[in-house]
Amino acid sequence: MAYNLLKGKKGIIFGALDHHSIAWKVAEKAYEEGARFVLTNTPTAMRFGEIDELAKKCNATIIPADATSEADLENLIEKSMEIMGGKLDFILHSIGMSINVRKKKVYNELNYDFFHKTLDISAISFHKLMQISYRHDAINEWGSVVALSYIAAQRVLYGYNDMADAKALLESIARSFGYIYGREKKIRVNTISQSPTRTTAGKGVKGMDGLMDFTDRMSPLGNASAEECANFTIAMFSDLTKKITMQNIFHDGGFSSMGMSMRAMKQYNKSLDNPIEIE
Ligand SMILES: NC(=O)c1ccc[n+]([C@@H]2O[C@H](COP(=O)([O-])OP(=O)(O)OC[C@H]3O[C@@H](n4cnc5c(N)ncnc54)[C@H](O)[C@@H]3O)[C@@H](O)[C@H]2O)c1
Repeated sequence: MAYNLLKGKKGIIFGALDHHSIAWKVAEKAYEEGARFVLTNTPTAMRFGEIDELAKKCNATIIPADATSEADLENLIEKSMEIMGGKLDFILHSIGMSINVRKKKVYNELNYDFFHKTLDISAISFHKLMQISYRHDAINEWGSVVALSYIAAQRVLYGYNDMADAKALLESIARSFGYIYGREKKIRVNTISQSPTRTTAGKGVKGMDGLMDFTDRMSPLGNASAEECANFTIAMFSDLTKKITMQNIFHDGGFSSMGMSMRAMKQYNKSLDNPIEIE
């Protein structure tokens, strides 16, 4: 059911690759809620993904951009404002990639060229995007900028590798830029820390199936789906959340506040030599 939450609002959505992508679901919901937007991804993602299909469905223009390239971002911001006839109201940064993870390099054997790329693509691109938007005065007052994060920024989760450092940096950039954007332009900047989700990026995480089962058993409300994440993102773009800024908000069914749950303990006990019955 749509509520017209984004009626008349204009934005840019990064990171829709295929219909599993969190950004794909955000685009569908934003369209349902009355927004107009530009979709963007890397030229390679355009070739291998399904973004054309999404653009048709949402009546959106696609502008390719590598989020690490300042020239591409500059072009994206300028063209988006031209196409939409003025300033933007929301931007979604839904980008993550680690070559160390792809090449199965463990955290104590990182390749540093790859590590730099991880940080540039997954975190510094967020700074570049905001610095360029700021310079162009591209976002309206009370606009909302959101990036997607993961709890590995705060806690060690086996196998998340250098993406954990990228997420910690991403969340810090949201706070630091959020201060300046809030003070000078009344624009809010937040990160949403989402449950593990089966997407192309998600499937790259070591032991994803076990991890998702664990977090689901640990969370009183269960894992949050990509669609639920999209709903929350729309709320963060809407005028109903105007005074939330510089926050990392967990959207994870309660996982981040748990230590041990009954469901997880029952499962864990099965592996003991003398399992104890859990009531
Ligand atoms: N899937 C999960 O378990 C999970 C959990 C928490 C947070 N997140 C975060 O959500 C975001 C979206 O990921 P997803 O799970 O939807 O996976 P996804 O693979 O569908 O999306 C990742 C996107 O990043 C894009 N990308 C990679 N390099 C880029 C570059 N240089 N410039 C521009 N775009 C680039 C890819 O083309 C892709 O569209 C990421 O930040 C990810 O870390 C994912």
